[in-house]
Amino acid sequence: MDNNFQSDSIKNHMTKSFICFDRGTNIFTIAGTMSKKHISCVVITEKSAPVGIITERDMVKRMVAGARDPRKTLAGDVMTSPLFCLDEDTDLIEAQQIMHKKRIRRTIVTSKNGNVIGLITQTDISKALSTTLESKLHEIQTIYTNVRRLFSDTVKALFFTLDAKDHYTGTHSKQVSILAYALCSAMNLDHQSKRDIYLAALFHDIGKIRVRDLVLNKPGKLLDEEFDEMKVHPTVSAAIVKPISELKRSIAIIRHHHEWYNGKGYPRGLKGNRIPLGSRIITVADCYNAMTTDRPYRAAMKQEDALHIIKSMSGIQFDPEVVKVFLELIARRKDIGLGTRSMLHKLI
Ligand SMILES: [Fe+2]
Repeated sequence: MDNNFQSDSIKNHMTKSFICFDRGTNIFTIAGTMSKKHISCVVITEKSAPVGIITERDMVKRMVAGARDPRKTLAGDVMTSPLFCLDEDTDLIEAQQIMHKKRIRRTIVTSKNGNVIGLITQTDISKALSTTLESKLHEIQTIYTNVRRLFSDTVKALFFTLDAKDHYTGTHSKQVSILAYALCSAMNLDHQSKRDIYLAALFHDIGKIRVRDLVLNKPGKLLDEEFDEMKVHPTVSAAIVKPISELKRSIAIIRHHHEWYNGKGYPRGLKGNRIPLGSRIITVADCYNAMTTDRPYRAAMKQEDALHIIKSMSGIQFDPEVVKVFLELIARRKDIGLGTRSMLHKLI
């Protein structure tokens, strides 16, 4: 599709069936032919060159106004002139603007060598433009649907990559995204923010595909160098989603999901409200889900124990405001965040 809206040429929408009469023709003859052939406009010529037009309406108006005798009136006496012509390649929009400006309802269409090849009215142009506009809108709608589908497929493919690398991280990410979305709703965030945070939560750990399995699934405490390897994952996650322009608002949220509210987190050690709100939301959902789900090397923590830890880390690791909303949410819906049903169809 062109960047600029371009409509069709008038030659494709003009009336090609028209009749020419010499300017010396009697109006009585012209009126008879128009009535017989059911045409409302004729082209008047002089030595075969067009010099004016006569429409049924204008002819009657001028005859009545001048109290003329039809048998004694010639075409040249009542025709509309000077003649206005438009080249056959004139764009419909341009033609509409010219005719509107000059207050012309109908014009002659000429070929490159000046021959009359048709007639076009403002109504013909309006109808043609409305059809062109409709087809352009349909084209835009199709493109929009395809772009949405492409993005949705990209998100799914990216997610399958994460899930194939480590199924636990895949399921965890889905649950964190659902819980983060519920938190966003409880905090009355707008649709765009909810979408950005949901997608950030879905891919917050995708950078773990760079972490070796023996480190990723190591039971017990990581060695310093192993922890260093693990700590790169938010930056890698952000780098993985960066080329996808639809995820650009999620990049910073992903990069900072391991920052602590007191500034002791990583990768940048951001503090308080300098940490993106989405990251502050995801980190609560992330830690809660990690604590309350089974791992091969340890059983899931009881919900009340996990909630106790979240509460105790409020203002240290977590944003107190997010913790407050989170605790209220869990009190209302104890099973929140345990489902894995994708919400992509709602958000993309
Ligand atoms: Fe993480």
